[in-house]
Formats: sequence, C-alpha cells, structure tokens
Amino acid sequence: MDPELVEHPDRLRWNGKYGDAPELSPVHPLVERALALPMPDADVLDLASGPSGSALRAAEAGRRVTAVDISEIALDRLGAEARRRGVESLITLVQADLGSWRPDRPGYALILCTGFWDRAVFSHAAGAVLPGGLLAWEAFTEAARRARPHMPADWCLAPGEPATLLPDGYTVLDETDDPSTAKRRLLARR
Ligand SMILES: C[S@@+](CC[C@H](N)C(=O)[O-])C[C@H]1O[C@@H](n2cnc3c(N)ncnc32)[C@H](O)[C@@H]1O
Repeated sequence: MDPELVEHPDRLRWNGKYGDAPELSPVHPLVERALALPMPDADVLDLASGPSGSALRAAEAGRRVTAVDISEIALDRLGAEARRRGVESLITLVQADLGSWRPDRPGYALILCTGFWDRAVFSHAAGAVLPGGLLAWEAFTEAARRARPHMPADWCLAPGEPATLLPDGYTVLDETDDPSTAKRRLLARR
C-alpha cells in the first residue's frame, strides 16, 4: 500500500464502514443505461468504485474495467466476487486517493462515478473520456444538507452542477434530480 494511504482519513473511515459486511454495491442504473448505448471499443473506469456491482456488470458485458477506490476492503471484496464470476482478468483494482490519482490511459469509453463528489476529479474525468464516450455521475445535491447539516458543502453539487462544469464538446443525455435521495445524476456524451 502507498504509505500515504495508511493514515488517510478517507481510507480509515470507509474501511470502517465496509467492515465485514459481504454486500456488493448494486448495479447502478446509469451503468445499465450506458451499456445499452453506443460507445467506443475501449475500457470503463469506475471512480470511488466501492465493491462495485457496476464494475462487475460492465466486465460481464465484455468491457475491461479499472476500479479505483481508497478502501482495500472494498477492492478486495470486488476482486473476490470478480474471481467467483470468472471476470477477474477484465478488472484492474487500483487502491488510490482520488485527490491525487489521475487517469493513466489516453481515454475511456465510459467513466462512472457514483456516491462521490470532487470538482477536480470531475474535471480530470471529463478530460479522459474518448470522443463518443460517456461520462456518468451521481452525487448529493445541496438539498442533502437539510437532512444532514453536518455534511460538508464541498461534498455536494451546487445548482446546475455537474453539467455546468462539462467542457465544450459534451452533450447532456440525462440530468435527473431525485428528491427522495437528494442526489442528482448526469449522463453525458463527449
Ligand atoms: C458512497 S461510496 C460509493 C461507492 C460506489 N461508487 C456506489 O455507488 O455504491 C463512496 C466511495 O468512495 C471511496 N472514497 C472516499 N474517499 C476517497 C478518496 N479520497 N479516494 C478514493 N476513493 C475514495 C470510498 O472508499 C467509497 O467506496
């Protein structure tokens, strides 16, 4: 493990949350939607993946997937399930802090990030989608702070975000607010 991660508060917090529970994250509807659309013949990147059912779903659809997360508990669980399903050769697990990790490929067919928000990470991700590829994101809006006032404002999308942060050349395919979860999702094509 990168020595800088050993005491990283995000790693400690999320390893504690994942604990011993065996659950995977469910396949996100954004992934089902994206996989049904035309995309370049290239890899998928799942940022802040957790033990991602979405990464497994993309691998089972034949895509190579890189899953990045700070929690080795989440990644180990994802790796174990990938082995169980026979798709481990398609999934690369990367333990890293998204505050400093940057995409290392010329481009991805689909970049997915759900349950995590950071403007700089979004900006780097938007630049790493191949022409014709898709960017799929979901995060809390400021409405979430009404129910959880201690949630830092930086974790929440401001009005219009993240669509307003897309660079030129993107087309928004879907932007939906879910008032019941105070989350907004975006699907955009480059
Ligand atoms: C709410 S969970 C979302 C997991 C999954 N994407 C989903 O939608 O179910 C947030 C994830 O972000 C990861 N995370 C938090 N801070 C991080 C950081 N600085 N770098 C990388 N991953 C981080 C956590 O380990 C956790 O798996």
